[in-house]
Parts: sequence; structure tokens; C-alpha cells
Amino acid sequence: MFPLIRNRRLRQNEAIRRLVRETYITPNDFLVPLFVVEGKNVKEEITSMPNYYRFSLDLLEKEVKDLWQMGLCAVLLFVKVPDNLKDNKGTEALNPKGLMQRAIKTVKNACPDMLVMTDVALDPYSCYGHDGIVAEGKILNDETTEVLAEMSVSHAQAGADIVAPSDMMDGRILTLREALEDEGYTDTGIMSYSAKYASAFYGPFRDALDSAPVAIKDVPKDKQTYQMDPANRREAIKETEMDIDEGADIVMVKPGLCYLDIVRDIKDAVEVPVAVYQVSGEYAMLKAAAEKGWLNHDAVMLEQLTAIKRAGADIIASYFAKDAVKLIS
Ligand code: PBG
Repeated sequence: MFPLIRNRRLRQNEAIRRLVRETYITPNDFLVPLFVVEGKNVKEEITSMPNYYRFSLDLLEKEVKDLWQMGLCAVLLFVKVPDNLKDNKGTEALNPKGLMQRAIKTVKNACPDMLVMTDVALDPYSCYGHDGIVAEGKILNDETTEVLAEMSVSHAQAGADIVAPSDMMDGRILTLREALEDEGYTDTGIMSYSAKYASAFYGPFRDALDSAPVAIKDVPKDKQTYQMDPANRREAIKETEMDIDEGADIVMVKPGLCYLDIVRDIKDAVEVPVAVYQVSGEYAMLKAAAEKGWLNHDAVMLEQLTAIKRAGADIIASYFAKDAVKLIS
């Protein structure tokens, strides 16, 4: 073979590298997570997520306009719920005038063409910080999916394009789909967090929303009875295929970087778009290392995003979306 084949011929300069490059990051790849709080003129930095903020509705408006200007076309909304509105059943989640419902309307008013996705799970609304209703030492499954279905309908009513259940209860996609169909929201999509692992990388997110599980008698202070065991690989395919059968339009693997084998497995196994969530802990790790001068922030960020896309992501939910788009445009 050698010297007939010299692989370095295709690496000699940037032009040839550009020509043969297999994976490009573009603004179309991204889903931008946004944290929303009550109040006016609030833009609070999240301590464990440097340069990432919680916005009040007035500033959210400005933020989504900026995102749209940059070519980013989809957001994923999360709300920080005041403690006095939290309970075990997530009652506030169904309030038609709740923060999420107002946030959806705010984004749609500011930017009608922006795709609005919403997080569907009880944890930001739960006094226990769990994704479902807690009773008798357990996180109840079927009772929770009923609330999640009502929550999804409420988001659809407020104008959400796609609801994104992140709770990992069994059968929730079917329950949500049926509720949306019954209420006439036939065009509202479902992006399922289908292979969501019980990961320690969600810490900064729980700081952002003040939603970490609390200690309660007889209930585990983690989410291992519903989120997946990081040790399992085949189970991710089973979870994902079940969600598709139940009506998921888009599926997701979460977290991102440590789970790229799962991303590739799913990509090869299914025909629907695959989203990957590069989670808060992944963001925090790079910010911290860059702050210390130990890693080159921008280079590592682009390398990580490229790796996620190369592994099979059609959509990347990432706190780096803005930083990355600034860099590549
Ligand atoms: C809520 C939810 C979580 C994340 C997204 N939706 C936290 C959790 O499951 O505990 C994590 C996102 C991140 O870490 O960036 N169910």
C-alpha cells in the first residue's frame, strides 16, 4: 500500500481538511435549554454553571430574540418554582397561569417561529424533588403519568410545540400521547427522554432549579428507582423502542459524553431523530477546567460537540449552544 496510500495527503491544509470533514456543527443542531424565574429584570448567574443564567420573563423575551438572531431555532424551557408553590402532586404544574405556561407564551410572542419545547416532570414542582408523586416509600408510576399527561396538555394549550417528558415513568409516552389526542393537540410532538440515566452529572441543574431530591424517611434520596443504571447498555434500546411504539416523535440519550456508545447503539437501532443532552455537569466540568487554565475552552467545547454529533446525535441540547454558534459563524 504505502506509499500509494498516504493518509496525510488529506490532512495537509485546512482546505482539504474542510473538504473531507465528515461532521460539521451548525446552529441547526442545537436545542437551547433555558431557565426561567419569577420577577422582573432578573438575570441571575447559576453558581455551578458559570455564564449561564436564570431569566425572568421580560429578559427571557430579549434572550430568545438574540438566539433567533444567531440562527438558533429551538428552546427547551425549565422553570424554577418558588418553594411555597411546591407540593407532592405538582399541583402548580397544571396552573394555566403558572410560570411555565407564561414562559411558553412569552417565547411565542417574542419569536413566533421559535420551536418551543417544555420539560415535563414533577421535580421542579415537587416538595421532595422527585420526578413523580411520592407515597409509601415509593415514587408512584401510574398516578404520576396521569399528572404528566395533564401537564402536557396544559403546555400544549399555552402553545408548546413539543413536550419533553424527562421523568422515566413507565408508559408515560402512551398516556401523554392519548391525552394530547383526546384534547385535540394532534400536532403537538413528544420528545422523550428515553434513555435517561441516573447520573451524578445533573448536580448543577438541580442547583439551577433548586430541585434536588430531599431526604425523606424510607425513600431513596436519588432517582435510581426510575432513571437507568449507568452500567446498562441493552436496556437503553429497549427503553427507546418502547417509547417509539408508544408515540415518541424524537428520542433522547442523556447525559452525552459518557454515553456515546449508547448514542450510536440507538442511532443504529431506530428511525426517529435522536437527541443527545449534554448535561449541566458536563458544562460545569469544562468551565471549571478552563477557568483554571487547564483546558482550552473553545477547542474542547467544539471537540466535544463534534464527538456527540459524530456518535449519532441529530439534535444536541447544550448549554454551550450560544458559545459554539458564536465561534463557528
Ligand atoms: C428533570 C430534569 C433533569 C435534567 C433535565 N430534566 C434533572 C434530573 O433528572 O434530576 C438534567 C439536565 C442537566 O443536568 O443539565 N427531570
